[in-house]
Amino acid sequence: MHSREVLLNRLRLRKPETALDRDFYCSAEDFQTELALIWYRDWLFVGHDCEVLNPGNYFTVQIGEYPIIVVRDRDGSLRAFHNSCRHRGSRICASERGTAPRLVCPYHAWTYHLDGRLFSARDMGSDFDKSKYSLKPIHCQSVGGYIWISLADTPPDFDPVRRQMEPYFLPHELHNTKIAFESTIVEQANWKLVWENNRECYHCSANHPELIRTFADDPTLTGVDGASTNPRITERWTHWESLGLPSTFKLASNGQYRTARMPLIDGTVSFTMDGTAAVRRPLSDRVTEENTGTLLLFHYPSTWNHVLADHAITFRMLPISPSETVLTTKWLVHKDAVEGVDYDLKKMTEVWLATNDADRRICQENQIGVASPAYDPAPYSAIHEGGVTQFVNWYCQHLEGRLLEDGK
Ligand code: FES
Ligand SMILES: [Fe+2]
Repeated sequence: MHSREVLLNRLRLRKPETALDRDFYCSAEDFQTELALIWYRDWLFVGHDCEVLNPGNYFTVQIGEYPIIVVRDRDGSLRAFHNSCRHRGSRICASERGTAPRLVCPYHAWTYHLDGRLFSARDMGSDFDKSKYSLKPIHCQSVGGYIWISLADTPPDFDPVRRQMEPYFLPHELHNTKIAFESTIVEQANWKLVWENNRECYHCSANHPELIRTFADDPTLTGVDGASTNPRITERWTHWESLGLPSTFKLASNGQYRTARMPLIDGTVSFTMDGTAAVRRPLSDRVTEENTGTLLLFHYPSTWNHVLADHAITFRMLPISPSETVLTTKWLVHKDAVEGVDYDLKKMTEVWLATNDADRRICQENQIGVASPAYDPAPYSAIHEGGVTQFVNWYCQHLEGRLLEDGK
């Protein structure tokens, strides 16, 4: 039987509310199918507007087999292209970010305008038609300071995401920020294990002494059920919404993304070891309240986020192989905040650097364990692992839908 048919059967025979079986985390064939049907089709968060503010600013990112470049054009529009030269295919931009008036291939110096049109190609003869060799464009959109791309020919409709995200994110003015610090780690774990770990705080008390100083491991706060019946949370929502900050828990009908603003532990305002603000200058000129909890966004499969009153922490997750995932974390502050004056980098980053490192270890151990032929999936905790169930349900339904769409 074709591997996609086998996968479809496994999705259909899956026990509900139970961890996935071994092949989902280890099979090279399944991984290729996920790349083709999820990662090469959905909208993915790749970076921030503030990283490409001016014409010629660019950054690069690798999505599976596709090297990509995102660039700010002369007219201010945002563009994304396949980072593969139209001559003999060399990667054009190798650095993670930079600024260039035009994009020049380092191999034979074919040169492209920032809008992707081929500008010059030396000695290609008089009948060579430059207009046929523009860089291949990729769908690209900016929403609330976040840049998203889709490799699909016809991507899913992104307007519902825009409509949900913008009211929550625009007050925080992330386009007026700068990256104060960035960390990239490779986790030796399947991308779904990284998500599953992210979607519960069942593990927090034993593994995140730094995080639980400010972020309660309360499932109504971290999961997908119960927030709207927790009076501590709803009292805060009422207050924040009165300030013009949308806060209530909102999960998309297809389960792919969620926005919500959640309180930190009483008396704390930011993810620091003592719970005080890490940055003196507020993140946004429009949000002057010191305690706005943490604005949460997840969007499967590529990102989860925390936006606080003083800074924001954004996470981008990309798969490398069945057992390797790269996680890039960025700390954003107001564009005029000055390191050493308005903020101390160690104070701002230590909680999430420690948390990421602990999560990396957890996920790696999980990968080693699920790779054992003796691994036997058990039910999730209904109290603590509702978020994991939600992620796994989304994954299975989404993948099944794509398999069916492709006629398998
Ligand atoms: S491969 Fe780019 S100029 Fe030749
Ligand atoms: Fe964790």
